[in-house]
Amino acid sequence: MAKEANQLFESEPAEVLGPTGRPLPDFGPPPPPSGESSGLTIAMCNQKGGVGKTTTTINLGAALAELGRRVLLVDFDPQGSMSVGLGINPHNLEHSVYNLLLERGVSIAEVVRPTVVQGMDLLPSNIDLSAAEVQLVSEVAREQTLARTLAPIRGEYDVILIDCAPSLGLLTVNALTAADRVMMPLECEFFALRGIALLQDTIEKVQLRLNPKLEVLGILGTMFDARTIHSREVLDRVVQAFGDQVFHTVIRRTIKFPETTVAGEPITSYASNSPGAQAYRQLALEVLHRCPSV
Ligand SMILES: Nc1ncnc2c1ncn2[C@@H]1O[C@H](COP(=O)(O)OP(=O)(O)OP(=O)(O)O)[C@@H](O)[C@H]1O
Ligand SMILES: [Mg+2]
Repeated sequence: MAKEANQLFESEPAEVLGPTGRPLPDFGPPPPPSGESSGLTIAMCNQKGGVGKTTTTINLGAALAELGRRVLLVDFDPQGSMSVGLGINPHNLEHSVYNLLLERGVSIAEVVRPTVVQGMDLLPSNIDLSAAEVQLVSEVAREQTLARTLAPIRGEYDVILIDCAPSLGLLTVNALTAADRVMMPLECEFFALRGIALLQDTIEKVQLRLNPKLEVLGILGTMFDARTIHSREVLDRVVQAFGDQVFHTVIRRTIKFPETTVAGEPITSYASNSPGAQAYRQLALEVLHRCPSV
């Protein structure tokens, strides 16, 4: 008996459990860029505020750019937090996503700008975008406006990441209609699952009525605190509810992220060797694993 157990032990080394309580897969070395410039478009969505949408968009984008992907970030939140997080003063913008959506004659080339990260560009936004929510209502095919806007440059990027506002209004519906995939960051705290049913309902409606190619890319646990039982319990419940949709990668809570916003750059350059930077690099590998065409 003891011998059998010993053999079992020798032939099957103990699996390494990741923070989500499941065996942590090895995502292997990053595959080289496919070279197809598919412009795979991912919307970062959760109508709950402050769950890490903007932080994830910036840092996942930067980590994908490090892996040689050409990345476009779309700031689709009138708060303009992503633009600020990349060192842009949103009040000084001559053109923003707002002008692209609602004015004829403004070309996307006039609005897109490089970021501190090589290979990563940004379409910036500011408070003007809040007017678009109202003005789009009277447009023909109002839900497809962002998809039409992005169409001319999709082929220039491997990945396009859209940072959504904390709402399920017309702007977010536009983002979901333009997207191939949707990613949902969830803060690892007690009320995390509240409102997710409503978000899923919106995603299903968009899939049925506007964008049949839309798929859920995954659910990302953010602001995880490994020291608290509470954080682990929330993550367990999220895995019970959503199974393999939950990314193996989990982003821990650290003061480094608010610091990066002040610095106006991603964590991958601000604190390149920090656990937060490594986490977003692992997330980039996991995303490439789930989206082999990128
Ligand atoms: N892993 C983390 N650890 C600690 N702080 C974090 C983490 N991720 C994000 N933050 C901080 O939490 C705040 C909210 O994050 P973020 O702006 O990314 O959320 P959001 O979902 O985009 O918010 P909003 O809904 O307002 O757009 C920011 O101050 C950010 O710096
Ligand atoms: Mg945000």
